[in-house]
Amino acid sequence: MKKRKGIILAGGTGSRLFPITRVVSKQLLPVYDKPMIYYPLSVLMLAGIREILIITTPHDEKDFKTLLGDGTQWGIEITYKVQAKPEGLAQAFILAEEFLDGHPSCLILGDNLFYGKQVMDALEEAMSHNEGGYVFGYHTTEPEQYGVVEFDKNGKVLSIEEKPENPKSRYAVPGLYFFDERAPAFAKGLTPSKRGELEIADLITCYLKEESLKVALFGRGTAWLDTGTPDGMAHATQFVQVIQQRQGLKIACPEEIAFEAEWISRADLEQSADNYAKTEYGKYLLAILAEADAVV
Ligand code: G1P
Repeated sequence: MKKRKGIILAGGTGSRLFPITRVVSKQLLPVYDKPMIYYPLSVLMLAGIREILIITTPHDEKDFKTLLGDGTQWGIEITYKVQAKPEGLAQAFILAEEFLDGHPSCLILGDNLFYGKQVMDALEEAMSHNEGGYVFGYHTTEPEQYGVVEFDKNGKVLSIEEKPENPKSRYAVPGLYFFDERAPAFAKGLTPSKRGELEIADLITCYLKEESLKVALFGRGTAWLDTGTPDGMAHATQFVQVIQQRQGLKIACPEEIAFEAEWISRADLEQSADNYAKTEYGKYLLAILAEADAVV
């Protein structure tokens, strides 16, 4: 079984956040104390994925490289690919074909934030699903803003529709998709939608048609936040602030995840702490080291 590789789609114009995103990529904006892209990156790392492709715009690639580098500092391998124009989420698999090189994949959107025990369980389950597609359903007040799952009375999935005017359920499909090695081939066979994009809903439908799609539902208490609007950004910031301050544990700290997974050494973590010396982030990294010493 070939190892699953990760893709973060951090393209797009971020037009719903103008003027904030006129000069800065949305996925580089802060969500409380970290750049937005740390959150999806951490999800891939928590899933155990260490080879990651970041797809950005021609304009933003340089900034992402400055921020994230080649991933060595976190014991992972990050490479980059440019999406010249935002021509749809499914295009990510065409752009990533060479990188994937016949491996199964996990695509996560650079502006989606996930948190909770059920997310961890779901990642484990999805990672072990070797054949077909594995996506999620999340009960929401605004299904029309997303891809929407239609079920029959027995819970069998009937369709996935992109931003339908009359949603057939309240279950939206979050931006976290697990596919087998056929995703690039399926993506190449898609035709652009009315808005001129290769739709992820159509790619998921390829798997549905051949009955190799699993849709797992996230239950109560799981956080899936969309940071595509100013309100979404504010909510995500408040959410992260409240949980972190209460527990004294950070959400989406790549150094911590890498250290716990033993992908980086104590010296590597010390180095990172040094780089952020005197900041609250640096103090947190030092606290991780102190706690690890106390356990030994
Ligand atoms: C995209 C997808 C949609 C999905 C959503 C999740 O929409 O097209 O199917 O539900 O991401 O965030 P966008 O938010 O890019 O409009």
